[in-house]
Amino acid sequence: MKKLSYTLAVGWMAALLCTGCTRQQPVQEISLKEALADKFLIGVAINSTQAAGRDTAATRIIRQHFNSIVAENCMKSEVIHPEEDRYDFTLSDQFVEFGEANDMYIIGHTLIWHSQLSPWFCVDEAGKNVSPEVLTERMRDHIHTIVGRYKGRIKGWDVVNEAIEDDGSYRKSKFYEILGEEFIPMAFRLAQEADPDAELYYNDFSMAHPGKREGVVRLVKQLQERGIRIDAVGMQGHMQLDFPTVEAFEESMLAFAATGVKVMITELDMTVLPSPGQHVGANVEARFGYEKAMNPYPEELPEDVSGLWNDRMDDFFKLFLKHRAIVSRVTLWGVADSDSWRNDWPMEGRTDYPLLFDRNHQPKPVVYQVIYD
Ligand code: XIL
Repeated sequence: MKKLSYTLAVGWMAALLCTGCTRQQPVQEISLKEALADKFLIGVAINSTQAAGRDTAATRIIRQHFNSIVAENCMKSEVIHPEEDRYDFTLSDQFVEFGEANDMYIIGHTLIWHSQLSPWFCVDEAGKNVSPEVLTERMRDHIHTIVGRYKGRIKGWDVVNEAIEDDGSYRKSKFYEILGEEFIPMAFRLAQEADPDAELYYNDFSMAHPGKREGVVRLVKQLQERGIRIDAVGMQGHMQLDFPTVEAFEESMLAFAATGVKVMITELDMTVLPSPGQHVGANVEARFGYEKAMNPYPEELPEDVSGLWNDRMDDFFKLFLKHRAIVSRVTLWGVADSDSWRNDWPMEGRTDYPLLFDRNHQPKPVVYQVIYD
């Protein structure tokens, strides 16, 4: 059955190509966003070159297939708020303008996160942790300034990113060290104050882990019990070919939805490469030195592996469609394979194939399957 749908999709592609579509002139009549219009938003993370319109092959795909965008890097604190008294909105303004010009549902990523954090944010000039009062004030200024600037324009925010460990305990980040678990409700309150109409999300990776699932459910319930609004849980969805299982992912989707919030798949991609560490999740700080043996497909992906990848990606889309009543958005973490962070994480310099469009900006079979099945 799987083989059949893969073959059918390849057939579709061939048929469409034969009816006069060239690489310069992609198939105009097909579009993910039209096919999924009454199901969920279909989004993509874009980089600053794309937001500036300088990557025309990618921007053509973004406009054709997606109705939501998220900033891959330009709204992280180290970029947008490099010094305590200085914000830099150059790239984020460009990103938001790109979204508006193309009528996209714009997502802000991310307000409070321990990674890609401005070095000054949690410490004083001597490098020592600031007091809870100082950090509270810094968070207030950061969240109010950024959310306030894009009030009514950015529709949803990843308010807190990656605060829970795989075992369900709180990550011992600087925010946690200084403010304890209170930094999370505080961040949600501040974001709500700054734009009461924006949706507010908690976002994390490895969400299919039972421990993380329970920890996040606990967190959502605690916020709700205190009357603090949270609209959705974002499951990043940085997948491997053999991990996690569709079933475990589904169990987490259902557990989050049972709290009454929506579920979003916020950073979908699927590596075909071997993992140098045991399920490093998507911890951006994980780093391994380059090894040739860990880069098995530098030129092209063998057909059996691309078949496996395609079938598994299709299985996940089927899962999202099955649960469309609770899924409000599915966002890919990049446009084409060449753009993906997975070529360099957790090992720099590899060649990966994790996204829906290949290095020639051609759709993979799963795109046709999602559109036509
Ligand atoms: C990644 C970006 O894609 C890279 O360009 C950057 O070097 C590191 O961060 N979880 C997240 C995203 O929430 O912000 C990360 O994005 C991937 C993991």
